Amino acid sequence: PTLEPFVDKLPKLKQIRIDHGKQVVLGAYKIQQKLHRDLPPTTMYAYGTSAATASVPGPTLLATSGVESYVRWENHIHDEYHMLPVDKTLMWANPSKGGVPIVTHLHGAECDSASDGYPDSWHTAKGEHGPTFTTLNFTYANTQSPAMLWYHDHAFGITRVNVLSGLSGFYLTKAHSNSPKPSWFPKRKQELHLMLQDKQLFYNGSINFPNVGDSPANHPQWCPEYFGDTIIVNGKAWPYVHVEPRTYRLRFLNAANARVFVLSLDNPNLTFTQIGTDGGLLERAQSLKVLTLAPAERIDCLVDFSHAAGTEVILNNTGAAPYPSGDPAFSPPSTLAVMKFIVKKKTKKIRDAPVPAKLRAADPLVNTGNALVRQLFMVENDDADGNPLESLLSNHTWHDEVTEKPELGATEIWEFINFTPDAHPMHIHLIEFKALNQQPFDLDKWTAGECEIFNTTFATPGTCFTGEPIAPSYNQIGLKDTILSLPNHVTRVVVQWKSQQNNGKFTFDATAGPGFVWHCHILDHEDNDMMRPIKLVKKSR
Ligand code: C2O
Ligand code: CU
Repeated sequence: PTLEPFVDKLPKLKQIRIDHGKQVVLGAYKIQQKLHRDLPPTTMYAYGTSAATASVPGPTLLATSGVESYVRWENHIHDEYHMLPVDKTLMWANPSKGGVPIVTHLHGAECDSASDGYPDSWHTAKGEHGPTFTTLNFTYANTQSPAMLWYHDHAFGITRVNVLSGLSGFYLTKAHSNSPKPSWFPKRKQELHLMLQDKQLFYNGSINFPNVGDSPANHPQWCPEYFGDTIIVNGKAWPYVHVEPRTYRLRFLNAANARVFVLSLDNPNLTFTQIGTDGGLLERAQSLKVLTLAPAERIDCLVDFSHAAGTEVILNNTGAAPYPSGDPAFSPPSTLAVMKFIVKKKTKKIRDAPVPAKLRAADPLVNTGNALVRQLFMVENDDADGNPLESLLSNHTWHDEVTEKPELGATEIWEFINFTPDAHPMHIHLIEFKALNQQPFDLDKWTAGECEIFNTTFATPGTCFTGEPIAPSYNQIGLKDTILSLPNHVTRVVVQWKSQQNNGKFTFDATAGPGFVWHCHILDHEDNDMMRPIKLVKKSR
């Protein structure tokens, strides 16, 4: 529907501390939430401590780095059938007694397999569960540096409809009190957590997830990428927020199914000072006029609104959908604006501390000399008539035998070789990785079988590479758990599998249980079938 932007206030998100050593119980509930002033309430699935308090996004969970936390994730969605169309021709968590299967994953977490939200560990409100299910009681080690993680559903083959229905929320790890917060950090009041999504909505408020997909002969309801025409921030369509004329910390999360946001501010005096990414602070801040944010990625940045005192600032989006090739049908004018900042007039002098050049100590250099190199490729397969069929990783489906079996303690290089016209945000569970480089190649020649790409370098005769490896781009640097793998490129990342997962007191065995996963975070790809298992193994000697 045609809706007026900037008429709803940015909602304040509830926060729940989970660093007190006691278990916190969160459930998934069916709720009604108003997404826009002029729409009736939308039926959604949402996380919360009760049906009355559940919301989209769910409550922000506040953890402390180095202190484990305990969450029990319950399912109180009593629908017999999912409220959105579930494509039964895809492999999915198919409960024989009906209901809505869910399993919650903490994205970016270091935790044991039983707490990781393994796709086959789903459960329903009726108590039916998937083959690898063991417990509702999850433990998070919080071993990583302070960062903004997020939790969301990860049920097998229906993650796209569960997350679109509302099952996601923020999870912040803050620094332990014995390593105090840097003095230049803006105060809590000047920190905004912004979850960006897009949806299609009907005039009656309900979510429009097409009943007929793009390739109905193969998959009646599946769309290779779901794009909405309504931009939702923290559960409201194009909200506005009042800000003081001073420095704010904006922490963005892209929680959309498929849309890549390319964000900019419409006031030329304003700049994003990026200070962090998925895994926490960057080593050095970078000044940017645009931010590229693919599904599941996070960007932590500062914006000094004193340069726009007394004015209104629009946060715009120019990201092509699909990214980067783009089809104008998926980027109607309504998707070009995200939200509005209304900046108060300057009344008194506020002096915000400047950002230091160095934000944290540099990470030690990783020796990749003996690293195992995994060559992993992405393909999108069509049927004989050119209709989309599936997206695969290295031509495998989810249930094929495990091929990624890293040894504890190993350093590996993962090469994401993109043989498709679309960019894929590739995510690996359990660890944070660092981009090594990316290297362009000739996709047309490779498709025609005229050149080689596996085990070749730019110097190899007959190679598909068209240049030497180049530095990671500005949106690939820092500690990442999700990285945008561009078409016509090999994107290389360095993965270090910790030999022991612990925070000093707390240790878990990463080789136990069904394991972990890696996948494309375009949820429609992940569900069909761009996801693969990871099974860690003990070091062989
Ligand atoms: Cu954000 Cu495997 O997911
Ligand atoms: Cu993908």
